[in-house]
Amino acid sequence: MTTINKNYLKLPGSYLFSNIAKKVSAYQEAHPQDQIVRLGIGDVTQPLAPAVIDALHKAVDEMARGETFHGYAPDLGYEFLRTAIAKNDYADRGCAISADEIFVSDGAKSDSGNIQEIFGVDNKVAVCDPVYPVYVDTNVMAGRTGEYNRDRENFDGVIYMPCLEENGFLPELPKETPDLIYLCFPNNPSGAAITKERLQEWVDYANKTGAVIIYDAAYEAYITEEGIPHSIYECDGARTCAIEIRSFSKNAGFTGVRLGFTVVPKDLVREGVRLHDLWARRHGTKFNGAPYIVQKAGEAVYSPEGKAQLKEQVAYYMRNAHYIYNGLKDAGYSVSGGVNAPYIWLKTPRGMTSWEFFDHLLEKAHVVGTPGSGFGAAGEGYFRLTAFGSYENTQEAIRRIQAL
Ligand code: MLT
Repeated sequence: MTTINKNYLKLPGSYLFSNIAKKVSAYQEAHPQDQIVRLGIGDVTQPLAPAVIDALHKAVDEMARGETFHGYAPDLGYEFLRTAIAKNDYADRGCAISADEIFVSDGAKSDSGNIQEIFGVDNKVAVCDPVYPVYVDTNVMAGRTGEYNRDRENFDGVIYMPCLEENGFLPELPKETPDLIYLCFPNNPSGAAITKERLQEWVDYANKTGAVIIYDAAYEAYITEEGIPHSIYECDGARTCAIEIRSFSKNAGFTGVRLGFTVVPKDLVREGVRLHDLWARRHGTKFNGAPYIVQKAGEAVYSPEGKAQLKEQVAYYMRNAHYIYNGLKDAGYSVSGGVNAPYIWLKTPRGMTSWEFFDHLLEKAHVVGTPGSGFGAAGEGYFRLTAFGSYENTQEAIRRIQAL
């Protein structure tokens, strides 16, 4: 008889954002008159930039003519996009990353979930707590963890690095040595940013211990302060210990278009094997390339018009971030994030748990956010609001929260 992958049975409940979506739609069904403002999942609301739309139209027209039609894309990505990424995201920031170290994909969520496949199941994984759930859940599915521990509300066999107020929401080097270290900066969910000096410590640590860092830089476009690295490759020695994952979702509003990429430097070698070659093999076997029209849209993100338009779009969301941050502060909340990231991380008031505050906000203010405990045990007592709403909805949400 067929057997199943029993690792899936270790996962409690459903995926965080599916769970929240179900709760919110049940509430809306029961209260159809309530105007709900959604600041939960980090999904963008502003339309694609005109330069991106133009590129999409042109690419669609090309697909309509035999001479310019495109079938399967190269599985590692079109040269035009990989070259644009290498120049704009890396060379221009002084990072030595070549186009053939860039793997174009359908988004950072898939890449951050799939990347663990090229590592042995015996690798010990370290994650921040709270953490973007995809890193943990995919390692659970692969059998790289023990059972879910209901008392501790986390998985046995995973190294959790608490990111709390007292450490500025930044992880400290773990006592137990991990093999795989997931870092996300600017951070989802806390909105904390890491300085280049602090990130350099992680790179030095990984090079010393032989660990590999999986660095999720999906929110780098939101960095506003000096001294905060946009890429881990700004640190010396990162080419021998780090994989970087990037997204077009947050910097260019591609959540519904789907495009991302992963960088695996050729100098990153473990057990005598280049991880680049393993990821290329995996990509070639399981992925048929992001669509031509989407990659042309991605190229437009790096055009002078695209850059200018997207700078404005990011500034629009950051205006929301400041509005939420200041509005909550004025209302007496303890708040962080929102300066180099589109997420605001607040302490729940009056000792409420994260889910109690979620219900309270939904029922009394009709505002949806994300409970901090959904990102891990150390997120308990915290709550995340996203700056990706419209400015009007953001203002309305804060008005309602202030009136509670
Ligand atoms: C989030 O809300 O944490 C993000 O939207 C999730 C994602 O990007 O997949």
